Amino acid sequence: MQVNLSTVREIRLKSRPLGVPTPDNFELVSTSLHAPREGEVLVRNLWMSVDPYMRGRMDEGPSYIAPFELNQALEGTAVGKVIESNDPNMQPDDYVKSFFGGKEAFVAKASEVEKLNPVLPLTVAPLETYLTVLGAPGLTGYIGLFCIAALKPGERVFISGATGAVGSTACVLAKAIGCYVVGTAGSEEKRLWLERELGVDAGINYRAPHLESAVAKAFPTGIDVYFENAGGDQLRVALDNMRTFGRIAFSGSISQYNNTTAPSNNANLHNIVTRKLRAEGFIVTDHLGQFENFHRIAADLIHAGKLKWHHTVFEGISAVPQAFVDLCSGKTFGKSLVRLSSE
Ligand SMILES: NC(=O)c1ccc[n+]([C@@H]2O[C@H](COP(=O)([O-])OP(=O)(O)OC[C@H]3O[C@@H](n4cnc5c(N)ncnc54)[C@H](OP(=O)(O)O)[C@@H]3O)[C@@H](O)[C@H]2O)c1
Repeated sequence: MQVNLSTVREIRLKSRPLGVPTPDNFELVSTSLHAPREGEVLVRNLWMSVDPYMRGRMDEGPSYIAPFELNQALEGTAVGKVIESNDPNMQPDDYVKSFFGGKEAFVAKASEVEKLNPVLPLTVAPLETYLTVLGAPGLTGYIGLFCIAALKPGERVFISGATGAVGSTACVLAKAIGCYVVGTAGSEEKRLWLERELGVDAGINYRAPHLESAVAKAFPTGIDVYFENAGGDQLRVALDNMRTFGRIAFSGSISQYNNTTAPSNNANLHNIVTRKLRAEGFIVTDHLGQFENFHRIAADLIHAGKLKWHHTVFEGISAVPQAFVDLCSGKTFGKSLVRLSSE
């Protein structure tokens, strides 16, 4: 596997989208790289993750992470292979994780990339799962349930965004400790995947009519823990079905990320008072020290055939804009990944 240093392509944000991104918001640019100097590595990216939070980075304004800069390569998590190393800690053919996802290849300090030590054979959990169920999204599911919501065996859990990398991991982790788990999905096909493949107790199609009655029927005695990935109507309905002393882990609100005006879903926040709820937001990067614990549990669940994943794969760096368009339009199924090159 070689890299031609004089023609390496990267994908840049050309303009900030209003609502759902369009291909015009991006630009594919050919650049060149210098050969790695002392302490540096040359990496060819294999996979890039296209994540919901990246939509927020396309907007201006303060958040927990800086906006993408215009006319600069997009950042994002990626796995790649070291092609050349001028650092004693990295060897050619090492797999690495990095935040340099918007590039076919890059040169960086070895300290800016992380050597990837697979916890399972790659035939069982391929490289790209370290961007999804075995990566930060999977860890988000673990942290939200156990560190934020303090989930206990036997409780009744409602998980929105259950077909995505965060939600599907959360579903399986909650089932594994004997909880009753209901997840939401955006189509009948995805709902059936939740029930038949992932093994949740019930899937609910949040795009079908009567979300209120479907959730009330699934939780006749109420919800102990709501894992919030969606926002909008799903948050409103979850709040109306929480039990006294229930907990909500606020992971994200994907239905709101393309809004051009302030969200209004008429959620009854007063339920937090009357039902004595605890609601807490979190960002996974504050919990990276938990990766080892999470990996131990996740590896066992993959071995047992319980932790599964669904990915939507886009081919080549020129497909990155379409990956964002499709992710933000609800057309993807599971984590959106771009295969930047094959080994
Ligand atoms: N707090 C943190 O540190 C952290 C870290 C990572 C992710 N997150 C959040 O976790 C959530 C899921 O991320 P992910 O990595 O699992 O993403 P993902 O793998 O790309 O999956 C996207 C999920 O969002 C759902 N979705 C898409 N459009 C939606 C809409 N309009 N309304 C409701 N649901 C919609 C999808 O459901 P269907 O395809 O079934 O419609 C799918 O379950 C996002 O809110 C993200 O911001 C938080």
